[in-house]
Amino acid sequence: MSFPSSIQVLDCRGFDEITLNLFLAPGVSPYLETEEFLLDCEMRADELPRFVRRGLLEFQVRSNPDGVLLLKGLPIDPGLYHVQTPTNVERSPDKKTFVSERCLAMIGSRLGHLVSYIQEKNGDLFQNLAPVPTDEQVQASSGSRTRLQFHRETVFHPYAPEYLLLLCLRPDHDRIAETTCASITHALPLLSESDRDLLFQPLYRTGIDYSFGNHQTIKGNGPVMPILYGNRHDPFLNYDEDLMTALTPEAEAALNSLKGAIASVYRGIKLDIGDLLCIDNRRTVHGRSSFTPRYDGFDRWLQRSFVVRDLGSSAQDRHPGERIIRTEF
Ligand SMILES: [Fe+2]
Repeated sequence: MSFPSSIQVLDCRGFDEITLNLFLAPGVSPYLETEEFLLDCEMRADELPRFVRRGLLEFQVRSNPDGVLLLKGLPIDPGLYHVQTPTNVERSPDKKTFVSERCLAMIGSRLGHLVSYIQEKNGDLFQNLAPVPTDEQVQASSGSRTRLQFHRETVFHPYAPEYLLLLCLRPDHDRIAETTCASITHALPLLSESDRDLLFQPLYRTGIDYSFGNHQTIKGNGPVMPILYGNRHDPFLNYDEDLMTALTPEAEAALNSLKGAIASVYRGIKLDIGDLLCIDNRRTVHGRSSFTPRYDGFDRWLQRSFVVRDLGSSAQDRHPGERIIRTEF
């Protein structure tokens, strides 16, 4: 069952020519002159229409009950229709313009600062997500035929992103793939007081992601933490449906209650071309429904970026002037 309310949308389909040009006007390469690209995008974002800047500001400051904000119908790269979905989830050599990267960097700059992780896709700031034949059943963004279970992005990581941006360059052929999201705001009322007491205690051990090298998908090889933290009535959420284990039977029962609550409040969002979904990674867990890839060059293709609010907190694990977080596990 999906949660019935509709999510917050900023409709970008009516942008005028001046605004479209903020995205489309050529600039430096995000891959060759990364820092200059990011600065340029932040300056361009200052000129976005007021309703976009206001919506992003409100989302950054106070989030919303779903913990997601959808920017609908952003500009896409001209000629993208002819560029094949990358099969090795690396950058497509045929995509010679950077409109999608600019969308991610411009929108991300209103929420914080883009970062990446050295273990994921070579530390790319703009990551290509597409189905990989050998990963169909894997709990990772390269999977397809199995449901990607609910998780906070890199819940095990000391410098997890506060926001996750997903930009759709191409939906799946059958248009059945849904990005699934569930907020703690909606799940909390379904939990008893005693379950909440347990979930606020450090009684849970999470695991290291498959994409960070846990190819045996060993559960519980990460740090011990509480699942809920922050304000008792408006908490943040550490959760990984696949990799998190409880340390006591009572804690496990509470974990199962949370799993059930998430399953009953989640929403499924079908992203279309140019749709950019911002996910509040502290309040909302996400996943993906299963879908059937064809490997014909036109499979589902998303680009993803991570955003942190404070670049300084991870400085000890980054090279000076770089965005790649190099924490070892
Ligand atoms: Fe994820």
